[in-house]
Amino acid sequence: LASAGQALRAAFGSARPFVLTDSQVGELYLGPLMRSLTQAGHQPEVMTVPAGETSKSLECHGRLLARLAELGADRHALVLCLGGGMVSDLGGYVAASYMRGIRYVNLPTSLLAQVDASVGGKVAVNLPAAKNLVGAFHHPSLVLADTDCLRSLGHRDLRSGLAEAIKMGIIDSPAYFEFLERELPSIRAGDPQALAFVAGEGARLKMVRISEDPYEVDLKRPLNFGHTLGHPIETDFAYQGIRHGEAVAIGMGVATLISLDAGWIAAAVAERIFKLLEGYDLLGCGVDPEPSSVLKHLEMVRRIRGGSLNFVLPTGIGAVQIVPDLPTEQIRRGFERYRELVAQRVGSPANGVLH
Ligand SMILES: NC(=O)c1ccc[n+]([C@@H]2O[C@H](COP(=O)([O-])OP(=O)(O)OC[C@H]3O[C@@H](n4cnc5c(N)ncnc54)[C@H](O)[C@@H]3O)[C@@H](O)[C@H]2O)c1
Ligand SMILES: [Zn+2]
Repeated sequence: LASAGQALRAAFGSARPFVLTDSQVGELYLGPLMRSLTQAGHQPEVMTVPAGETSKSLECHGRLLARLAELGADRHALVLCLGGGMVSDLGGYVAASYMRGIRYVNLPTSLLAQVDASVGGKVAVNLPAAKNLVGAFHHPSLVLADTDCLRSLGHRDLRSGLAEAIKMGIIDSPAYFEFLERELPSIRAGDPQALAFVAGEGARLKMVRISEDPYEVDLKRPLNFGHTLGHPIETDFAYQGIRHGEAVAIGMGVATLISLDAGWIAAAVAERIFKLLEGYDLLGCGVDPEPSSVLKHLEMVRRIRGGSLNFVLPTGIGAVQIVPDLPTEQIRRGFERYRELVAQRVGSPANGVLH
């Protein structure tokens, strides 16, 4: 963050910066960013939205566009997204839609955003009907991740980022998965070097995937592992009281059980996945979504997608298969089995509540 001003000057000259942040991150990191920008001769404007997923809305999007116009932003303006994935998804979509697209830079501060959300160019806001239903493909011009910011993350946000990291390991990299296993105590304790590796290597693995298909022509994306069910869980919670990574962790747990039931993954491998999730407090996550209600939202997404849903199922560590039309009953059974597993291993879901 301290060198952001210089880095932006080197990359974008005198382009006018418009910083978007949320109330919580703003309190912590807006000061250092503003100092760095002004020292490098920029005259930044600031726009702040309330912290939390509910700000990833069309209402906020509209207000921010109006604000950019009021402030006289032109097509050379640069949106700087300082915050977690909520801020980069919202700010990226503001940049994608203002004047048919202006540039933006991500300054991700959460582990989830550093590992995953700040790269890949998928930007969006939520509708009450479904997650990320309105958005665009618009890649950031630059991503600057300062891993020192991770020191102030709460436990729920740390584990939420680790869920996306575990996802990357399962779909693409046994070595990364093993790192998450081996370094569990130091990662849990917030060791800066271990976390910097988790962030950097996770984002690198994601970019390898993204560069093969930067505009998601192929909808069968392993990167959606855990999300086919995770997104409807978030919708069911009306985007409150659950973190994105927690919902994804539940989705990965259910998918692993579906695979196990079908004989597509060895029991010992599934056990490694459950053990790692449990080790990072990502089994159950202290929330107990109601399967019928979540499956209604899933069916809504299936309708929107023209009747088909690509379900990503793990077959090993670093290996997945994608099933286009998994029957709802199979998903329901996986979900029920998951709730039993959580009850057996961590007791009542309320045991996972952490703040
Ligand atoms: N575009 C993509 O490819 C992609 C990928 C994964 C996730 N996402 C999206 O990202 C969002 C989730 O990201 P998130 O978990 O970062 O959510 P978030 O941005 O809401 O951040 C979570 C919480 O952590 C706080 N926070 C962030 N950085 C902090 C820091 N350094 N210290 C203290 N608190 C900090 C925030 O204020 C917020 O309260 C979801 O909307 C999800 O859909 C997008
Ligand atoms: Zn995600």
